[in-house]
Amino acid sequence: MKPGLQFTVFVSVVIMHGQIFDVSAKRHNVLFLVIDDLRPALGCYDYPKVISPNIDQLASRSVLFENAHVQQTVCGPSRTSFLTSRRPDTTRLYDFGSYWRTHAGNFTSLPQHFKENGYFTYSIGKVFHPGICSNHNDDYPLSWSKPAYHPSTQAYKMAKVCPDADGKRHMNLLCPVDVSTQPEGSLPDIQSSEHAVDMLKEFQADSSEQPFFLAVGFHKPHIPYKFPKDFLKLYPLKEIDLAPNPFKPIGLPDVAFSPYNRLRIRHDFGLLNVSYPYGPVPETYQKRIRQHYYSSVSYTDSRVGIVLDQLEESGFANNTIVVLLGDHGWSLGEHAEWCKYENFEVVTRIPLMVHMPGMSDINLTNEKKFPFQDVLKSGSSQRFKIKRGPRSTALVEAVDVFPTLAELAGLKVPPTCPLDTLKVDFCTEGASLAKIMMKSAQKTFLKAQKLSTKDMSDDNENWKDAVFSQYPRPSVHPQSNTDLPDLKDIKIMGYTMRTRHHRYTEWVAFNPATFQADFNSVYARELYLRDSDPLEVYNVGNFPMYEDLVMKMRKKLIAGWREALPK
Ligand SMILES: *[C@@H]1O[C@H](CO)[C@@H](O)[C@H](O)[C@H]1NC(C)=O
Ligand SMILES: *[C@@H]1O[C@H](CO)[C@@H](O)[C@H](O)[C@H]1NC(C)=O
Ligand SMILES: *[C@@H]1O[C@H](CO)[C@@H](O)[C@H](O)[C@H]1NC(C)=O
Ligand SMILES: *[C@@H]1O[C@H](CO)[C@@H](O)[C@H](O)[C@H]1NC(C)=O
Repeated sequence: MKPGLQFTVFVSVVIMHGQIFDVSAKRHNVLFLVIDDLRPALGCYDYPKVISPNIDQLASRSVLFENAHVQQTVCGPSRTSFLTSRRPDTTRLYDFGSYWRTHAGNFTSLPQHFKENGYFTYSIGKVFHPGICSNHNDDYPLSWSKPAYHPSTQAYKMAKVCPDADGKRHMNLLCPVDVSTQPEGSLPDIQSSEHAVDMLKEFQADSSEQPFFLAVGFHKPHIPYKFPKDFLKLYPLKEIDLAPNPFKPIGLPDVAFSPYNRLRIRHDFGLLNVSYPYGPVPETYQKRIRQHYYSSVSYTDSRVGIVLDQLEESGFANNTIVVLLGDHGWSLGEHAEWCKYENFEVVTRIPLMVHMPGMSDINLTNEKKFPFQDVLKSGSSQRFKIKRGPRSTALVEAVDVFPTLAELAGLKVPPTCPLDTLKVDFCTEGASLAKIMMKSAQKTFLKAQKLSTKDMSDDNENWKDAVFSQYPRPSVHPQSNTDLPDLKDIKIMGYTMRTRHHRYTEWVAFNPATFQADFNSVYARELYLRDSDPLEVYNVGNFPMYEDLVMKMRKKLIAGWREALPK
């Protein structure tokens, strides 16, 4: 048996569900990697500036989703949403102030489903958002087989530990460090990845055939940008660009803007006296933020690589489903924005890739490894040539991950939630991506074998035609709690919908006591024509010439996710 799991618990689970499963049959393990505030700034997403060889290599043997979106662009609500496969209007979590089981409904979580099916489930680092959102115990024991591990050095995220030009240490935004001078001589993701390696070694030594669901949540590239300072060398400042659209969009309603208060509280950023609420941030500093974000991504990539290498070393690589996703994006100056807390594509869109052994494997025999010492030595001039694996352009959502993993692992797939979703513990407000994955992998294989794929349907046929996200506001104009209003202060909800050709957002009145939105009380609307305006810089939502389109989009937005499901 895996450490911490009593045999009696295992047996009672089997009896409780009246399920007979063959314990001797080899079942797939799951490695669930979630990365805080990671937008698709990765080599495999054709973001050429960023060096991410380990994640790119995982992508080469996964199905990569090019159009994946979260349901709310802030950690707690987004994580509770994808870990329960319910949307924020169902979990009723828009801030950090409630635990879904007591506040909304006793929804079965993703790890809970695996645990109840005989898996050893374990959480390392930031998986559930810690604190009230997950009952101060990461939803243990319902979700996990033993209490979650948190790296001790995460305690210093608001501490004055960043060396600065004045010779003192401050609570900075930009924080490249000599790790040996840090409290406890380590950093959170170093500790978490080392612990994950130890766990994989334990699993390897374990003679039982019990499969594992191991979740590892990385803290970077979330602010502060605290990482081993060598990573900064990969990104000379002179090679860093500004965002292509570093200005407020035309026709942007005030309610859509987040004044990035979380950056303003940092010592170094505060010294800039950036005008409130719209800035601008000085250009050189914009470049430095981008440089430090990229460095944090490369550092995180190096820690992901250490975990993936151990998975292979321990002999689990051919029998483990690996998923990697970000919990939402991050603005790096696009729309004159910094942070998340918005409804633009740049923050709703995430990296999402799923590796299923046998589905999209490439021959690993001669594959290069990327230990980070080598990456650092290579410098920024060198880029790694890594094969592209299967990719899907289908519009997908973070709530789809739970049913996908259930289907891939051969567990019961949660059915679509009924209208009284609050009363049903086991259901999904997403849809399994397993068949889309199959199709993408198959297509890539056929092409590689020089066979025709012309009879294969497009990914987007028989699939969702829209994906949804939402963000709350306390007021029409930016104020001190605009980024992250408490539930009681929410007065407006911004619902956004991405279709193949448009993004439509409507900001409407919201009652936090009844959790009801009033679509008859509209504060603002935004419509972006993505075919001609992929950066979402020109809001045409108020032009009479687009009134018909706005009305069509509005109808679809109100009809919501159910109507957008594959028919
Ligand atoms: C939720 O359901 C589990 C059983 O699946 C039960 O142990 C737990 O007490 C329930 N929690 C709440 C808050 O109802
Ligand atoms: C910010 O304001 C302070 C106090 O008004 C001033 O001393 C400082 O020079 C200003 N800094 C910048 C970068 O403008
Ligand atoms: C996985 O690889 C190991 C050797 O590393 C082998 O014994 C095992 O049969 C393989 N399993 C599958 C499912 O291919
Ligand atoms: C993988 O590649 C190596 C070296 O090119 C070759 O020897 C081996 O047979 C290949 N394995 C498979 C399963 O194709």
